[in-house]
Amino acid sequence: MATDLLEGLPLIAETPAHWGQLARENLDEVLRDHAWCEYKAASAGLGLMARFPEQELLIRPMIALVQEEMLHFRQVTDLLRQRGVALGIPPADPYVKRLRNILCAQGSGIGGLGDHLIANAFIEARSCERFRALAATLEQGDAQEQSLADFYQRLADAEGRHWETFRDLALEVCDAEAVHRRIEEASRLEAKLLEELPVEPRMH
Ligand SMILES: [Fe+2]
Ligand SMILES: [Fe+2]
Repeated sequence: MATDLLEGLPLIAETPAHWGQLARENLDEVLRDHAWCEYKAASAGLGLMARFPEQELLIRPMIALVQEEMLHFRQVTDLLRQRGVALGIPPADPYVKRLRNILCAQGSGIGGLGDHLIANAFIEARSCERFRALAATLEQGDAQEQSLADFYQRLADAEGRHWETFRDLALEVCDAEAVHRRIEEASRLEAKLLEELPVEPRMH
């Protein structure tokens, strides 16, 4: 079954086709990295509330997001335990670090909160695309891999919703036209970053 990896997302570049197979061959490593991605996503939601305490409209959507990311963290750490794999220490995430730098450090004119919301929106969107790619690869495997494919398809749907949550918040707190322009610009910057980074058995 062909999957449209970019459907509904602001991304313009697909993950290189061989990433899915690379991830499949190094699943334990990918799952460990993925578990920490979920933890960091929850932490980013908490951080946003503390950084912008005057923005009350963040509170409910961020609480919902943090709860969902922690559920994902629990699910992935459960998988690690079943596979007898240790969680280990949080790995570096050059994609997230560089993307946050690119999208937030200089300021784009939509304000600090707007920049943070757009950066988070793109991290969610890319995670959604990677989960779709991994699900499409695992779908071709045995029963165990197929059940993991279902799990990744469900997570892809959740991360797709999270991209929309951050985008909608940005549209609410900033000038909508400026946000749409910034999303277009960020799509190009994100695609360029993806091209510069090596293809590795990790989530980003
Ligand atoms: Fe998640
Ligand atoms: Fe998410």
